[in-house]
Amino acid sequence: MVSKTSPPQKVGPVRGRRDGFGKRPVYMAKTALISGITGQDGSFLAELLLDKGYDVYGIIRRSSSFNTDRIDHLYQDPHEKGTRLHLVYGDLNDSSSLNTILRQIHPDEIYNLGAQSHVRVSFDIPEYTGEVTGLGTVRLLEAVREAGIRPKFYQASSSELYGKAVETPQTETTPFHPRSPYACAKAYAYYITLNYRESYDMFACNGILFNHESERRGETFVSRKITRAATRIKVGLQEKLYMGNLDAQRDWGYARDYVEAMWMMLNTDRADDYVIATGETHSVREFIERAFGYLDLDWQEHVEIDPKYFRPAEVDFLRGDASKARRELGWEPTVSFDRLVKLMVDHDLQLAKQETEATEMQHVAVAKARWESL
Ligand code: NAP
Ligand code: GDD
Repeated sequence: MVSKTSPPQKVGPVRGRRDGFGKRPVYMAKTALISGITGQDGSFLAELLLDKGYDVYGIIRRSSSFNTDRIDHLYQDPHEKGTRLHLVYGDLNDSSSLNTILRQIHPDEIYNLGAQSHVRVSFDIPEYTGEVTGLGTVRLLEAVREAGIRPKFYQASSSELYGKAVETPQTETTPFHPRSPYACAKAYAYYITLNYRESYDMFACNGILFNHESERRGETFVSRKITRAATRIKVGLQEKLYMGNLDAQRDWGYARDYVEAMWMMLNTDRADDYVIATGETHSVREFIERAFGYLDLDWQEHVEIDPKYFRPAEVDFLRGDASKARRELGWEPTVSFDRLVKLMVDHDLQLAKQETEATEMQHVAVAKARWESL
């Protein structure tokens, strides 16, 4: 466990608190704990909270290779004074680690973003997905109770809950119809969060977030898969892109906007559940057309269908109505679909160019090595 003795840089709302190291000074920055800090949203949220002056603790899993790429730019040497980003080992499948972390950290806010978050993969590993994405939430909530603390709690709920949606647009009152093991696990997590709010008067919120993407999106989600492939095709690194269902339609926003909404939910007067969405829907086909078109490529020459990417049950259409969040939190999306596609393509084009340069250098090195061995 890392040390907690570093003084805060900026001061959030003032409060006193005990922790595992004895009585802390009365004037403290707020402390936040993020599960899933190494993921897309976790990395943006960590940035946001550090900017707001929080001490941020992130739970990371033991991995045989480094998996902190998305937060490496935020790294602070724990030996230095004033460190405000701390990484602690833990796992949503391991209650004892969660109990230890909460007993020692006493966060003011907890953001539960950790999950096996890939819908297609959840059909391959349904039981594991249920453990992490579903039961992981109750493990964290119970650890809060066992530590005897009263942090605010954010649960990363999902528009996947609507599944075979019974109305459009979807709001906080639209019934759920989950269509995957992932969505079933998220349904459990949603209801257990609500239950702890009602049973124990916890400040616990569900953010029902519609799809949100970015230059940090995992490369197997459809948006990033498309922008990575289109840009690699553009620079000649690959020829084909193999896809699943091009007719699926999603309400896609920009991840930076969405983590702001998470913070807003925990920093308002009353705990509640909110839909976060743009209110605009586009098909996967349109995403492809837009990304390839921006690069002056004809997508039909490069895209092929591989049935392995189809899902046993599909969510055909999602469109969210975020008017409650707009009205009560003042939240608005700031990035249009067009801008989202462009910013991801611009980012990935740079990556593809770097890849080309690296490949060329490798070729030169290999060629040189061959000559040297003659
Ligand atoms: P992501 O990039 O897949 O990140 C998931 C994070 O969870 C990673 O940091 C991962 O750690 C961590 N994790 C996985 N298993 C864990 C475990 N057993 N214990 C602790 N941590 C674990 O997901 P994201 O896109 O940032 O999404 C964040 C959350 O919002 C997820 O819960 C997701 O289901 C939900 N959500 C996302 C969207 C969206 O469109 N992005 C929409 C609605 C809801 P490793 O790096 O070690 O794998
Ligand atoms: N991943 C992927 N790969 N999806 C494809 C492909 C492909 O090759 N071809 C078509 N699709 C379609 C999927 O069938 C789905 O309908 C749509 O593209 C979006 O897929 P993903 O990007 O994998 O996201 P998702 O909507 O299934 O789930 C994401 O959003 C949820 C919020 O609604 C994830 O981030 C979830 O964690 C999140 O809860």
